[in-house]
Amino acid sequence: MKRILLLLSLAFCSGPVDAIYKRWIPNTNFENASNWHEQRLPCARDNAVFASNKKVSVFVQSLHSLTDLYLPLDGEFILSSSGGFMAASAEDPGCGEGAVINFRDTDNYQWLDPAHWQAAVSTDDLENGILLFSVDAERVPCRYDDVIFSPETSFQVQVQEAGSDIPLSSLSVLGKKFTNQAEFAAYLATSTGRLQFPGKFQPQVTNTRCQDKTGCLCGNEGVMQEICSAVLQKAGNTCPQVSCTDPLKPHGHCCGICGVIISLEYSSEFDLEKYRSRLIHTFQNLAKYSGVKLALSKVQSSPSVKGVDPLSSDPTIQIVLIDEKEGQSAGTDALQMGQDIMADIDDHGQTFGITKADMKFATGTTTSPLTGSISAGGITAIILGIIVGLSVVGAAYFLHRMDRCRFPDLGLLRTTSRLEEPAPEDQTFDNPIYDPSPESGELQRDARKEVSHQTGMQFANPVFDASIDV
Ligand SMILES: *[C@@H]1O[C@H](CO)[C@@H](O)[C@H](O)[C@H]1NC(C)=O
Repeated sequence: MKRILLLLSLAFCSGPVDAIYKRWIPNTNFENASNWHEQRLPCARDNAVFASNKKVSVFVQSLHSLTDLYLPLDGEFILSSSGGFMAASAEDPGCGEGAVINFRDTDNYQWLDPAHWQAAVSTDDLENGILLFSVDAERVPCRYDDVIFSPETSFQVQVQEAGSDIPLSSLSVLGKKFTNQAEFAAYLATSTGRLQFPGKFQPQVTNTRCQDKTGCLCGNEGVMQEICSAVLQKAGNTCPQVSCTDPLKPHGHCCGICGVIISLEYSSEFDLEKYRSRLIHTFQNLAKYSGVKLALSKVQSSPSVKGVDPLSSDPTIQIVLIDEKEGQSAGTDALQMGQDIMADIDDHGQTFGITKADMKFATGTTTSPLTGSISAGGITAIILGIIVGLSVVGAAYFLHRMDRCRFPDLGLLRTTSRLEEPAPEDQTFDNPIYDPSPESGELQRDARKEVSHQTGMQFANPVFDASIDV
């Protein structure tokens, strides 16, 4: 039993919910060979040339000895403690004959180009390359994200195309994190700030986090066109060919995909980051799904989502699965994983606050159905689910006593303890074993013990051990 409790505690203790971190990739560092036309750094016999009309901010990490250095009329070098330039004196045997080495144009990197960003749930994950996949709209920073420009790097980013200032939770530049707009505005007015963020529009730090654990909308709908034109530009202005005849169109994505879209309806118990970590740890980390990319976010539901009134605009949770398979097997790994996720929702969905799930898929196979849709209608009322639910009650109580983490609000408890706030999801299914008697409505959180007893008396549960120490 201890072991089960431990496993369950891992499932529920995902730590404090953090924002998503988005890191800008391109840099204008002197030491980055790809910033030079010749794809190498200038050395002692070379002439290093910065075009006179370009405004650049360039970070210099180390000491460079050069024959000549041509500077732009406006610009700056940010020297690290060991960075600098010196006139070449001694011969540099590794440097060849000497040449003119030109710094590239660095003024065409757009903020709204998804290819310029990496995302992760923590800064550690960013460092370790544990990156999140997301639909195109959410690859660029969303309004509650923390944006990071790596320390010890210079950069130049064009925000023009956004058409207005871009709200963010926070922004880090050269190792300093800004959460206060007045401070950030003062920084933008410095010569470094002007070189890094030229142009009329700028990021705006709001220090506002997503307050809703069920997730927040990204807020990039208004710039979708610019995002997609950046995406398509790289692909020759058309969406890449896909192997399925009837590709799916995920919300917030620029092109059709082969794979899976699962749309979830949820209750107030749903916790987006907790559920993300469940999907990652339970499914994506399996070797057989290592090639499947998973995107999870709250989106404004479209009328095509089954059971949603086209006029209502309740957001839904969107899961997108895409695999690396091609041809006939395109999307098949994603489909397999989607089916596993749906089965998991059938068994445990209620525990996670999922009230309804709908899956669509498109694979490259021509024989079996090209696209399909199944619904996890029987999320509740499955005896197996109850048995698991009871162990979860035990685990939850155990954790409560350990005072270790917040309680997951269990679907099982919700049916008996949340009469004061009738949850709409309670109406979306028929739970034959739920008896909405008023006495049970009085049960509050610390009555968990009774809940399990009560439930235990209502069904003959072969696994439930009434002597369990709760
Ligand atoms: C070098 O610069 C390019 C373009 O800005 C960028 O994509 C790349 O990640 C940089 N490489 C390193 C090692 O910083």
